[in-house]
Amino acid sequence: MCGIVGYTGTDTAKDILLAGLKRLEYRGYDSAGVALERTDPAGETHLDVIRRVGKVAGLESELDHVDDESTCGIGHTRWATHGRPSVANAHPHACCGGNIAVVHNGIIENFAELRDELTARGHVFGSETDTEVLAHLVEEAYAQTHELVAAVRKACERVVGAYGLAAVCADEPGVIAVARKDSPIVIGRGEHGSYVASDIIALIDATRDVVVLEDGQFARLAPEGITYTDAQGAPIEPEITHIDWDIDMAEKGGYPDFMLKEICEQPRVVRDTLVGRLAPSGELDIDELGLTFEELDLIDRVYVIACGTSYHAGLVAKNLIEGWARIPCEVEAASEFRYRNPIITPSTLVVAVSQSGETADTLAAIRDARIKGAKVFGITNVVGSPVARESDGVIYTKANKEIAVASTKSFIGQIVSLTLLAMLLGQVKGKLTTGQVRMLFRELGDTAAQIQYILDSQREAVHEAALACKDAPSALFVGRGMGAAISYEGALKLKEVSYLHAEAYAAGEMKHGPIALIDPGFPVIAVTTKSPVYDKVVSNLKECEARGAKIIALATEGDEDIKQIADHVIYIPAVRDAFSAITASVPLQLLARDVAVMRGCDVDQPRNLAKSVTVE
Ligand code: AGP
Repeated sequence: MCGIVGYTGTDTAKDILLAGLKRLEYRGYDSAGVALERTDPAGETHLDVIRRVGKVAGLESELDHVDDESTCGIGHTRWATHGRPSVANAHPHACCGGNIAVVHNGIIENFAELRDELTARGHVFGSETDTEVLAHLVEEAYAQTHELVAAVRKACERVVGAYGLAAVCADEPGVIAVARKDSPIVIGRGEHGSYVASDIIALIDATRDVVVLEDGQFARLAPEGITYTDAQGAPIEPEITHIDWDIDMAEKGGYPDFMLKEICEQPRVVRDTLVGRLAPSGELDIDELGLTFEELDLIDRVYVIACGTSYHAGLVAKNLIEGWARIPCEVEAASEFRYRNPIITPSTLVVAVSQSGETADTLAAIRDARIKGAKVFGITNVVGSPVARESDGVIYTKANKEIAVASTKSFIGQIVSLTLLAMLLGQVKGKLTTGQVRMLFRELGDTAAQIQYILDSQREAVHEAALACKDAPSALFVGRGMGAAISYEGALKLKEVSYLHAEAYAAGEMKHGPIALIDPGFPVIAVTTKSPVYDKVVSNLKECEARGAKIIALATEGDEDIKQIADHVIYIPAVRDAFSAITASVPLQLLARDVAVMRGCDVDQPRNLAKSVTVE
């Protein structure tokens, strides 16, 4: 999934495009490029397309040689889906005449047949990408419409798939045409012109009043203003949303990396996600629920569907939904769920968890579940995202923009939101009294201060543990119950940011095979917080210690016994076991981040990954 940006106005376009692309780099960094309009001494406008493999910084040095006169252009940062990272496959893609250029985020599913058709009509392709067909389709349509937005609309009629695209045309200087279907597009007017981007963060410096373009809508950006039309070309007045994020949230706020900044934002995320969720009556207030209590009371099966870290939030939710509401709950990898024939009835609730709200497998699983008659509830961090739009109800995790590829604050926001959902189901099913809900809600709120305490008091202990792991070839994470659920997340975090191989196991499973991996010095990271199964975890740890493992234990403050078997102990405040996933996740996030820093990895943009995965 890529990032696109566009600007037309009175300022130097290349500077604005570069600044926007840097903010969008979390979406993909295989290549970057711009198309800038240039007017020659004869008054003729031409398009200069400049592209580079790799990060935006590389493109920036390329643009140092380009003069500043252009005031209109489009830009792109890529995460390769069709065609390997190369200059030829980098966006923008131009048409045969070179007078039209397009940048695109999404996937053109029928690009092969369109390509054959266009080739048969004499078009010459220079890349392996799906996107290039758009440039040639717009070129053909423009020959008939002589108006860029109309040409883009016509081209989109031929396309099957997802697109957030922007196009420029040398014959229509200063105009940018924009279209959207299933990929995010935001548009805004600033003091010096009109802006478009895949994400608010790329234009927040210029304006805080944006239009989130809807599927099937089009826009014409010009220096003097913006007009919007629907799929038939009729004018429309989309809603303007005011964004109250501060720039700092967009920048690192003084932290060495976004991952650490976002880990340290988690106390706020807990508080913000709980704001206004408990009515004075003790009733939980989830107004975006989209389902009546009567409908909820009929629910007899829950599936949590998600990918990666969001899937691990589901593992936590399973314990709570079954524990508090006594409803059977399955946690499913969306990529599997969509292709197996799960048992779904109208009294099935499918909870789709997705930070980005645009993960392809999760979206497809939602659509499949809806067709089969399930009620769908979304938990996402992105307002107006496809997951939100395609669910009956939604809870927004108030994590704000998460920039580091490794999800941290959104994970905590997801667990808090799923905990609220489990409490609500327990309340509706009459398993939890209002008094119990009030008490649980209060304790859930207390986790914000407990996270802050861990951030303030355990950084040194985590650092020592990281030093103990950083040179190991591999590591194991173990726990039981809630501890098992977050061990999977601990292992994923370490893998994805430090490239150190790590696996997680329910501690009781170790002796059925994985313990064979342990030799002297092998790091075992164990979640041994006080819980009904604490003694069981400790005895499993003793089996590992007996084989010479280096034990790093996450323990409850005041637990001195654990020091007898652990080489390193990271303490977290005493908390109800149901909420331990929230607090115990934080040291695991910090551990992964510190090991990655020690191993010289790019903490915020790990290799081979992207922030949201909009392809299968
Ligand atoms: C987690 O750190 C990764 N970024 C990845 O596993 C992520 O959780 C997964 O791709 C799901 O993304 P989503 O929550 O945006 O759907």
